Amino acid sequence: MDIAIKEAIKGEDSVLPNPRVGAVIVSKGEIISKGFHQFFGGPHAEVYALDKINNKMKDAVLYITLEPCSHSGKTGPCTDLITFPMISKVVMGSLDPNPLVNGNSIKILNGRGITTKVGVLEKEVKKINRHFFTFYEKKRPYVIIKYATSLDGYISKSIGKSTVITGKESKKSVHKLRARCDGILVGRKTVQIDDPDLSSHGLGNNPRIVILGDKEKLNSNLKVFSKDPIFYSFLDTCKNSDSKNLEKESLFNNIAPLLSKLYHEGMQSLLVEGGGETITSFLMSGLFDEIHAYIGPKIFGSGVPLFTIGTKMDHLNLIVNSFTEFKNDVRIVYKLDQ
Ligand SMILES: NC(=O)c1ccc[n+]([C@@H]2O[C@H](COP(=O)([O-])OP(=O)(O)OC[C@H]3O[C@@H](n4cnc5c(N)ncnc54)[C@H](OP(=O)(O)O)[C@@H]3O)[C@@H](O)[C@H]2O)c1
Ligand SMILES: [Zn+2]
Repeated sequence: MDIAIKEAIKGEDSVLPNPRVGAVIVSKGEIISKGFHQFFGGPHAEVYALDKINNKMKDAVLYITLEPCSHSGKTGPCTDLITFPMISKVVMGSLDPNPLVNGNSIKILNGRGITTKVGVLEKEVKKINRHFFTFYEKKRPYVIIKYATSLDGYISKSIGKSTVITGKESKKSVHKLRARCDGILVGRKTVQIDDPDLSSHGLGNNPRIVILGDKEKLNSNLKVFSKDPIFYSFLDTCKNSDSKNLEKESLFNNIAPLLSKLYHEGMQSLLVEGGGETITSFLMSGLFDEIHAYIGPKIFGSGVPLFTIGTKMDHLNLIVNSFTEFKNDVRIVYKLDQ
């Protein structure tokens, strides 16, 4: 399975929003074929692996990181290609959380006399497809909060001002991150003050722009308006929640209904890029998966703080996932310890 995972990783971002999947076929204790899902809409991993073996052979074992598909999507069902006695056993990293599959293939394969085993290196398999698994299992996008602060914790020098905090190497890493996300979310005031581009600057796909706040408060000649953004005002996000009498102070209560709406839009991953009030809402809600904190070599002394509500906030258990230097900036990636 370890080798199948290494195959899967080769699919990189070209397969998104599909999961990265790798397959290995073993016969008489030897690897006879390997394959991986290479690009979105293209053949699945098992198609490449099965294509390379002699269909007269017997008793081979297929190792695959994700349950084979049993439905017709952009390609036909892979379960049709896995036949007995050519393949007598299928070992899977994880079930496919997509309700269209989720265990169906096991029944189909078992019905043909093929034995199955599920859950081998499952944690690692889920890690390489964390957007995909979070989307189906938690029914919300995988949320990454990204921000840049000065060494003394400010996101801007003063209210109403756009401030450069990090250098071009840091910015490039953010553009790459954007290319891997389905959506990018900012608060209404950030759009108004920074007039941001919010694109991947040619480094891949441009994420769909989501703006929290009232569209009417924004001037229609701002850059985002040429990019078909989705707006969610405070009221939009409360419509389906029980708590219609929310106070402005408890804005974070509307993050769950917001994420549910984005889930129904099919968004598997969301990058939250600020500003302070918006990030505070997400931090308070606890509904996020990673924080990418960039720290620039500046000390402002005063300015717009990252955390805008004077509420105590000690309920999150964060652990460092990685630490990267970009010239004079650093990026610390934190994950929630769950
Ligand atoms: N350093 C960085 O990483 C970074 C990144 C982005 C921005 N910035 C800076 O941050 C500053 C702006 O930050 P900010 O805190 O003033 O404002 P902001 O978060 O950009 O926008 C605040 C507005 O967003 C809407 N909003 C926020 N949370 C919401 C929620 N939970 N539900 C519904 N609507 C919500 C509200 O819009 P309505 O008022 O329309 O309801 C609110 O007034 C700017 O100076 C900008 O340059 C820095
Ligand atoms: Zn398939």
